[in-house]
Amino acid sequence: DEDKLYRYKGVLYPRLMCPEEHLKVLGTFQAREDDVMTVAYPKCGFNWMVGVVKRITDIIESTGVKPESKGAPLIEFMGPDILKDLAQDPSPRVLGTHMHPDNIPASFYAKKTKMLVIFRNPKDTLVSYYHFYNNNVVLPTVQSWESFFSDFMSGEVCWGSYFDHALAWEKMMDDPNVMIVTYEDIKQDLIQGIRQISAFFGFSLTEAQVQHVAGESSFSAMKARATNTHGVMAGVVFRKGEVGDWRNHFTPEQSKEMDEAFNKHLAGTRLGAKLRY
Ligand code: PPS
Repeated sequence: DEDKLYRYKGVLYPRLMCPEEHLKVLGTFQAREDDVMTVAYPKCGFNWMVGVVKRITDIIESTGVKPESKGAPLIEFMGPDILKDLAQDPSPRVLGTHMHPDNIPASFYAKKTKMLVIFRNPKDTLVSYYHFYNNNVVLPTVQSWESFFSDFMSGEVCWGSYFDHALAWEKMMDDPNVMIVTYEDIKQDLIQGIRQISAFFGFSLTEAQVQHVAGESSFSAMKARATNTHGVMAGVVFRKGEVGDWRNHFTPEQSKEMDEAFNKHLAGTRLGAKLRY
């Protein structure tokens, strides 16, 4: 079980999906200006946003609706061979990553690639991550809810500390090539979220197309397609899809501990204000 994770530059990663040789070549990744990039700390809504941008780009590329392409296009999962193939793919390429902004390949910044970043309140993120660890063969089995809670709080989970990621993105909120949305806001108004996301990437959709993408991006619609799009990972990637499930998991003490950590790191910040729970 221990072997499933390893440390790279101080941060844990799952060895099978994301071996060291992948991370070592990541720095050479050749981004394009028109790549459509989605970034998220794990369990913040990455697959949801990728689903949305795939639907948007499918509409832009053709008048018909194509079958949804498979898998999560995480650049750190790809490795040298897939990266070589990707270099031949036509634009716009739909890409994504869970990497900390400091570890996103420099070419994304140099090319001014647009990056959609989704964040989620840390309590629901932790709960989602806990269930993911428990139901994912490439991750070690969680000893207990208590032990996972303390691992998350100390950043001893894959891709590192939630708060490190949040603080780094907070500094980039004024970057015109970065748009930060929250799971909670998108959940409240998916249609408005789709309008903002398509405008950010420079795609103009008709109102009917926006409605169509929204219909296909609801939790139930994505879950219904998940066996096709995500194979064996379907059930765990599309688990519950709600805001506030932390209330069914956190003890009052854990809730207080998270509130204190949240206040320490994010109180008074603009991103903190968006991450209400
Ligand atoms: S991963 O594996 O790290 O990339 O996970 P990620 O996709 O970031 O997050 C998974 C959580 O997002 C929920 N989800 C959705 N919620 C609402 N609507 C839609 N369409 C949707 N798609 C995915 C998913 O259910 C996970 O949250 P939990 O709380 O575990 O259900």
